[in-house]
Amino acid sequence: MTIPSVLGISGSVTRPSRTTTLVSAVLDAITARTPVRPRLVELVDAGPTLFSALTSDKLQGSAAEIVRAVETADVLVVGTPVYRASYTGALKHLFDLIRYDALVGKPVVLLATGGTPLHGLVAEHQLRPLFGYFNTLTVPTTIYAVETDFRDYRLVNPAIADRIDRVVTEVVTLLGADTATAFGPAAAAHNLPAALSA
Ligand SMILES: Cc1cc2nc3c(=O)[nH]c(=O)nc-3n(C[C@H](O)[C@H](O)[C@H](O)COP(=O)(O)O)c2cc1C
Repeated sequence: MTIPSVLGISGSVTRPSRTTTLVSAVLDAITARTPVRPRLVELVDAGPTLFSALTSDKLQGSAAEIVRAVETADVLVVGTPVYRASYTGALKHLFDLIRYDALVGKPVVLLATGGTPLHGLVAEHQLRPLFGYFNTLTVPTTIYAVETDFRDYRLVNPAIADRIDRVVTEVVTLLGADTATAFGPAAAAHNLPAALSA
């Protein structure tokens, strides 16, 4: 049996990072519940190399390897700080380099951290549409954490821990369902307008 790979992506461009703490907590919780191969990519490290390619045909070396890891992971756990009411530009750049049909049917967890509760729906109105474009299977529960949910960059709010539990249950359910086959390229090909194939 192949052990599924779970790739966490932190869209933060600073260290230490609350977003990285949240992404890591979700990765750890999935790993504790089911056998997976976890990996974390932090854009604070990977950003400069990814930005050395402005288009996917210019990808080389570690940037190409990261893009390949995103495209081939069985599950993505994507977290971003809110920047100007959206995800970071670094996170968007990474997904601008991903093949439009590489993520079809892939379970994706959506996470965000912000400075104000007023942006608490950012995963719904910014992240979910981005992954809708890719025809991924975003899990129903999203997590948004603000600065008071952390102390010294560690999560301290039990309500966030409860939501992590819910997310893990959803991921484990989807892993058992083989969604990549059910919603894979063959199933999705005729749903994609030609304009999206560019
Ligand atoms: C350039 C910049 C823009 C930001 N814009 C917002 C924003 O629009 N809404 C918000 O709630 N927080 C905003 N913040 C606060 C961050 O989202 C918040 O501190 C986040 O938890 C930082 O995550 P990190 O520790 O992973 O970098 C902004 C911070 C920066 C540096």
